[in-house]
Amino acid sequence: MLMKATARGPEVKTGGITLHNLQKRYGSAVAVDEVSLSVSPGEFVSLLGPSGSGKTTTLMMIAGFEMPDSGKVLLDDLDITRLPPHRRELGVIFQNYALFPHMTVAENVAYPLQMRRVAKAEVEARVSRALDQVDLGTLASRRPHQMSGGQQQRVAIARALVFDPPVLLLDEPLGALDKKLREHLRNEIKTLRKTVGKTMIYVTHDQDEALAMSDRVAVMHQGRIRQVSAPRDLYRRPADLFVAGFVGEVNLIPVKLKSGIAYGPAGERLAAGPWTEADTDATLCVRPEHLHLDRGAAGSSAGLQGRITGMTFVGDATIFEFRSESGLQLTSKVLNVSGQAMPDVGDLCAGSWGANDATILAK
Ligand SMILES: Nc1ncnc2c1ncn2[C@@H]1O[C@H](COP(=O)(O)OP(=O)(O)OP(=O)(O)O)[C@@H](O)[C@H]1O
Ligand SMILES: [Mg+2]
Repeated sequence: MLMKATARGPEVKTGGITLHNLQKRYGSAVAVDEVSLSVSPGEFVSLLGPSGSGKTTTLMMIAGFEMPDSGKVLLDDLDITRLPPHRRELGVIFQNYALFPHMTVAENVAYPLQMRRVAKAEVEARVSRALDQVDLGTLASRRPHQMSGGQQQRVAIARALVFDPPVLLLDEPLGALDKKLREHLRNEIKTLRKTVGKTMIYVTHDQDEALAMSDRVAVMHQGRIRQVSAPRDLYRRPADLFVAGFVGEVNLIPVKLKSGIAYGPAGERLAAGPWTEADTDATLCVRPEHLHLDRGAAGSSAGLQGRITGMTFVGDATIFEFRSESGLQLTSKVLNVSGQAMPDVGDLCAGSWGANDATILAK
C-alpha cells in the first residue's frame, strides 16, 4: 500500500496534498488554470466557486480520474500525478453517490476491500466499523433504493472510509439533499472528521457550507484560485471584488482615495487609511450587518446621509434598503431583538460602520 511504502514513523501524520501549477484544458477552453494549493495533513479545505469554475476538474485531478496537461499533485512528498486512481489510496465521494443498486449496503461498503483482496474476516470487521462511523450499523442488509437520500449519502461516505485512506475527496456530497438534511449531514461530517482525523478536500458552491465546515476555503473563479483563507478572514478581508461579492452579501461603494481619506461620490469622508496616492479610484466594501442606520445622526456631517426606502422582515432579521443623498442604494441588516426601536420607511438616517468593518479594494 502506498502509505506503508513511504515507511514513516507512526507519529508522523500523513495525508498532506500539494498542488503545483495544475493546468487543464478542454479544447481551447481552460478549465483549471495554474492552480497551486497546499493542504496540511488533517486539514479541511473547501473549494468554493460558481458553476463551471473548475472545482470538480481540480478534485478529479487529485483523485486521478483526470490527467493535468501540466503541473503536479503530491501526496505528502510523493508525486502521484500519473498514478491511476486505485493506486492513490484516496477516498472519493461523488456527488451522485454512485452506489451499486443491486448490492446491499454492506456489500457496497465491502467493495473497495474486495478490490484490494482483503481477507473475509477482516472485511466484515472493517465494514461493520465503517457503518458504525456513519451511524448505519442497523441497515447493513438494505439495498440503496430502500434508503433515504441522506442514508445513501452516508453509505457513500462509509465506502470511502472503509479502506482507511489518509485523504477524503468530497464533490458536493450534500448538493442533492434538502436544507434540513444538508445541515444535519454537515454536522455529521464535521463530527466524523474529528473522530477519523482525515485530510478532507470538499467541493461546494454553497458558501454557508464552506464557511461552516472548513479550516480554510479556496475560492475559485474561471479556473483560478482567487483567495485561500480561513472562513473569518475570507469574509472580513476579501482579497478582491469577486470574492467580496461571492462570499456573503456586500455593499459596494465607489470611492476616491486622496492622501489618507476615502471620499464617497458626493465628497463625503467615508474612511481613513494609509493610502498616499492622489485620486485613485477604489471600492469600499461594507457588509449589510455592519451598515448602521442612525436616525439621531440624520442631518449631521457624519457618514452617509440618506433615507430608508424599503424594509423587509426575514424572520431573524430585518433588511433595510437605504438610499444616500449621493444616489447610492445600500442594504442594512439588523437582527430582530425584542424591545429594540427600529427605523421605518421614509426615515432620514446617517449610514455608518466601524473602522475595522470596511475593506477598500483597488479597482
Ligand atoms: N469533459 C469535459 N469536456 C469539456 N469541457 C469540460 C469537461 N469537464 C469540464 N469541462 C469544462 O470545464 C470547466 C470547469 O468544469 P468543472 O466541472 O470543473 O466546474 P465546477 O466548478 O465543478 O462546476 P459545477 O459547480 O457546475 O459542478 C467548465 O467550463 C466545463 O464546461
Ligand atoms: Mg462540479
